[in-house]
Amino acid sequence: MNVLGIESSCDETAAAVLADGRRVLSSVVASQDALHAPYGGVVPELASRRHVEVIVPVIEKALDDAGLKLTDLDGIAVTQGPGLVGSLLVGCSVAKGIAYATGVPMVGVNHLEGHIFAAFLEPDPPEHPFLALVVSGGHTALYHVPAPRQYRLVGRTRDDAAGEAFDKVGKLLGLGYPGGPAIERTAQAGDPRAIAFPLSQMTDQAPDFSFSGIKTSVSLHVKRHGPLAPGAVADIAASFQATVVKMLVRKTLRAALRLGARRIVLTGGVAANSALRTALAAEAAEHGVVVHVPARRLCTDNAAMIAAAGAERLANGERASLDMNAVPDLALDSPRSS
Ligand code: KG4
Ligand code: ZN
Repeated sequence: MNVLGIESSCDETAAAVLADGRRVLSSVVASQDALHAPYGGVVPELASRRHVEVIVPVIEKALDDAGLKLTDLDGIAVTQGPGLVGSLLVGCSVAKGIAYATGVPMVGVNHLEGHIFAAFLEPDPPEHPFLALVVSGGHTALYHVPAPRQYRLVGRTRDDAAGEAFDKVGKLLGLGYPGGPAIERTAQAGDPRAIAFPLSQMTDQAPDFSFSGIKTSVSLHVKRHGPLAPGAVADIAASFQATVVKMLVRKTLRAALRLGARRIVLTGGVAANSALRTALAAEAAEHGVVVHVPARRLCTDNAAMIAAAGAERLANGERASLDMNAVPDLALDSPRSS
């Protein structure tokens, strides 16, 4: 079964072809980072327009790389939400056009389920039940996944997403957009113990996250100590990263132990961060918990993960009709609209 995945929920235009729900035949990601960098964040109107320009060439390249034609497809999976509505509509409309022209069945995929399915593209996929930490630019959430296609929200951020905090702090430090990879690079030359940024005020019993406090602390620190020498910037980056990692690891481990989960899936753009990957694996190992982390290129937005989640739903008999709409606030733990 060949499934074409299409992803356009934010600022990456992506298409991929997956065979048998597991084998990535091709994966093309056209990043809009350079387009949004001058603004220090994603400009929704520009994002939609760029998706319109590049989505057909991106799909054509994914098919070419896989050595397939549209008529070789058995299914189409497209991100239905959550995301920017204008961006989502581009992917949904193109997917519907292809489904209408070819008669190939289509299914709408929740972007967060896609992130979780990235773990199933690795040679050693997680067995159910597991706890998933989805940590990206738009979301920071813990889901308990007792069985295939069942998701229970265990905790989430009460304010900023972790990736959003990385992006805002990257901007404060003048490191450019997106902040996550820039902070990780800059932190390598810094001391993670140089500045004691506060861990979130939330009690450790609460399963929710909060990242607005640390963002404010970094902002105050920069105002008080600026202009900053490169060494000072590296220390702030390293200390900020270490604090965010500590918050994510602590809450996730606590939730896993409380739920008796023996497996954790770490995924989403921020899961590309080496400090987080290493710290969560080390802390989990101490408690006999196994961590599944997709390769970095599968952690950040891509369409292979959307095809993987869609392939399972198609195999399960799900079909979206041609009046499927984009749902910008689509939830993972409630019934999806189609
Ligand atoms: O999953 P993703 O590609 O898009 C969303 O669904 O939001 O995540 C993008 C987020 C951005 O905030 C970016 O700064 C962050 O992931 N990110 C990282 C790293 N690579 C990307 N954060 C920390 N360290 C990284 N290496
Ligand atoms: Zn994402």
